[in-house]
Amino acid sequence: MQTLVLCKPDAVRRNLIGEIIRRCEQKGYVVAKLAKLVPSRQLLAQHYLEHEGKPFYEPLMEFMLSGEVVAIALEGERVIEGFRALAGSTEPTLAAPGTIRGDLGRDWGTKVVQNLVHGSDSDESAARELALWFS
Ligand code: RTP
Ligand code: MG
Repeated sequence: MQTLVLCKPDAVRRNLIGEIIRRCEQKGYVVAKLAKLVPSRQLLAQHYLEHEGKPFYEPLMEFMLSGEVVAIALEGERVIEGFRALAGSTEPTLAAPGTIRGDLGRDWGTKVVQNLVHGSDSDESAARELALWFS
């Protein structure tokens, strides 16, 4: 089983790729594929299809286009749920200490919440997103 993990541009700028991968590997998950890239608007539009039209959509696109992203196919039993647990809740201010967002993230007063990582939220999303980012 695999999930798509993204280290978002804030994580890359802050040199946190290693720390994020360390937490995944320490948990026992395996990095099956890894790529560093500046995503195209087209790729992001596909990735964030479900958020189109929401007030944070444009700021989210701008943020995700603002620099390099590291895309990882992370592998292991129940890794989709497991990585969501490692990442913590969406808002870093409220994310539990011990999680990636809780330990490494905070509110910077930006238009869209910058929360370091993305993780697929279901089997269907994981399959769809892995095909998008690693086609
Ligand atoms: P992700 O998809 O990145 O793993 O995060 P998530 O499931 O926890 O959050 P989701 O609801 O899917 O939202 C995707 C990303 O959009 C930004 N967001 N900003 N109200 C806001 O300002 C807001 N809501 C969502 C975040 O970057 C979030 O991770
Ligand atoms: Mg999501």
